[in-house]
Amino acid sequence: MAIQIISGSIRRKSLHQALATVVAEAVAQRGTPIIPCPLAAHPLPLYNQELEEQEGMPEGLHTLRTKIILAEGLIMASPEYNGSVTPLLKNTIDWLSRPFGDSPYGAVFRHKPILCLAASPGPGGGKKSLSHLQEILSIFSPRICPTTISLPQAEWPCTGETLPEEVQKTIEQGVTELLQRCSTTE
Ligand SMILES: Cc1cc2nc3c(=O)[nH]c(=O)nc-3n(C[C@H](O)[C@H](O)[C@H](O)COP(=O)(O)O)c2cc1C
Repeated sequence: MAIQIISGSIRRKSLHQALATVVAEAVAQRGTPIIPCPLAAHPLPLYNQELEEQEGMPEGLHTLRTKIILAEGLIMASPEYNGSVTPLLKNTIDWLSRPFGDSPYGAVFRHKPILCLAASPGPGGGKKSLSHLQEILSIFSPRICPTTISLPQAEWPCTGETLPEEVQKTIEQGVTELLQRCSTTE
């Protein structure tokens, strides 16, 4: 079993990359390998239907698709930009959702267990972004973890020890839900 991590921020000092690393460690401690899937390594152009019709699937999308298809579950880190998900994350989901070969629309995410997390320097902890992301993903998969991990007042660098106790608890709960979903088929 393997879990992929996708972060909607590719900033070097990304709070989301840092929090996703803490969650990845919690997953790894339970014996499940984590495969980081940095979006900077899979650059995609801004989705445009004409571009897709004329040039097909961008090069970076092939490896990204394969990694996600092979993973039993996903962790998605979703920064909040103006109350919603980042353009990077939405653009990535839009490309990944496209039909390809024998694979129909949305097949990459179909029935995939997904755990969502967010951090914010502000008091909201990225919760609006999380609810938007869960709504988008629910189009594809009924197996989105109901628990979300949200870290308000986040500061760089965030490590396991620096996280408030209630956030550490949601990490344990979210990871349990993710791994339970990954070990059962639907
Ligand atoms: C365009 C833009 C819009 C933002 N909007 C929000 C927002 O609506 N709510 C919020 O809590 N933080 C907002 N922020 C702050 C981000 O949460 C913050 O920059 C965060 O560190 C981004 O994640 P990262 O560190 O992983 O890159 C915004 C930042 C940017 C650049």
